[in-house]
Amino acid sequence: MKILFEHLEVPQIHTLSTYKEKGGYQALEKVLKQMKPEEVISVVTDSGLRGRGGAGFPAGKKWSFVPKDPSKTKYILCNGDESEPGTFKDRILMEQIPHSVLEGIIIAAYAVDCHKAYIYSRGEYTESISALEKAIEECHAHHLLGEAILGTKFSLDIHVFRGAGAYICGEETGLISSLEGIKGWPKLKPPFPAIAGFNRQPTVVNNVETLAAVPWIIQNGAAAYKKYGTEKSPGTKLFCLSGPVKNPGTYELPLGFPLKDLIYDIGGGLLNNAKLKAVIPGGASAHVLTAEEALKVNLDYESLAAAGSMLGSGGVMVIPDTQCMVDLLSVIAHFFKHESCGQCTPCREGTGWLEKIILSILHKRGREEDIDLILNITSNMQGGRTVCALADAAAWPVESFVKKFRSEFEYHIKNKRCHLNVH
Ligand SMILES: Cc1cc2nc3c(=O)[nH]c(=O)nc-3n(C[C@H](O)[C@H](O)[C@H](O)COP(=O)(O)O)c2cc1C
Ligand code: SF4
Repeated sequence: MKILFEHLEVPQIHTLSTYKEKGGYQALEKVLKQMKPEEVISVVTDSGLRGRGGAGFPAGKKWSFVPKDPSKTKYILCNGDESEPGTFKDRILMEQIPHSVLEGIIIAAYAVDCHKAYIYSRGEYTESISALEKAIEECHAHHLLGEAILGTKFSLDIHVFRGAGAYICGEETGLISSLEGIKGWPKLKPPFPAIAGFNRQPTVVNNVETLAAVPWIIQNGAAAYKKYGTEKSPGTKLFCLSGPVKNPGTYELPLGFPLKDLIYDIGGGLLNNAKLKAVIPGGASAHVLTAEEALKVNLDYESLAAAGSMLGSGGVMVIPDTQCMVDLLSVIAHFFKHESCGQCTPCREGTGWLEKIILSILHKRGREEDIDLILNITSNMQGGRTVCALADAAAWPVESFVKKFRSEFEYHIKNKRCHLNVH
């Protein structure tokens, strides 16, 4: 069963005419002509749709926080920064079915009384940007954007904004700073964007995938959406399967789908029939799962949290037993060190020291006390001590790699080489 990818294989689905032939913009028509804004919010709330950008916050609830005050200018910011390592799903929606993203944005805008929306795209996604811009042009030509949409009193403009390659600009307040034309530094919350976001006005920041699910929910109803997934994690989700598997790719699956089946049935198993060592289930920020943990967990918010990790962005990275975990962690630690914006001491210093210590273990200079030092640093980076969650996101993989694969770190320190003999 597919919701987001239902028409993915239809030739020319990126064009307005084909999208409309497949039922596109009927949800928008229903919303604008038959529903009040609060009814739209209540359908989305009832559907149980949760944010697909990482944090999983209920979408309808977020929209309901936007003040009704008509003197305020409200904004929708569609987050297409997609910079979490291992994640490549929003790109498919923006490039191949751009009208589903636009329709979701227009519906959300109507629900919160917004008349100007932005799509913040990852800078490297040139094809997404041109597909979205073409789709916006088509919408203007067919009264789906601009003044008097579909002959109603509702008006909306959508602009595409191109990011410049910073992971931190995917964090919602970093994104807002970047869009405001200042350095992409996150801001302290509260106030939350729904109250004071872009230009200090009420702002909804939603992920591309979250918004693209909205037209189907409106068209088919909350109850239909809740038939898929689990009770607490309803609906479907895009999962990006990467690593040495036979069929890597992006797959739409009902939430609650077994991770084992994603890897072995859909993914075709590991290349060269390698043995599974571990899985990072929700983008590089997630705690790693051992093979044993991964093979019994289901892909939904609650099951992954109970397993000590998270669903995150849905970036599922498969790790074979031929992979040195110290080496892999050094790549992840480098990423977070490079992407820390440097505002907060625990993050700026912590990410730097973590990379240095992990590299020194990898390069034969490790000391016995380094493992405890790493865990001390990761504990000082977590628990709300920083402006944004990048510090926590940087600490989680390091902590879980070291705790769950401690013997590999100890082997490197003691023998000045890898147990696999690759370093
Ligand atoms: C360091 C960091 C990077 C993030 N990067 C992204 C991103 O690339 N795309 C995204 O949608 N959300 C990202 N998020 C989550 C956003 O802050 C925000 O929660 C999300 O866009 C809200 O949309 P949603 O409720 O639809 O998930 C990031 C968060 C953090 C802490
Ligand atoms: S936690 Fe890190 S990335 Fe986030 S604001 Fe602080 S220094 Fe910047």
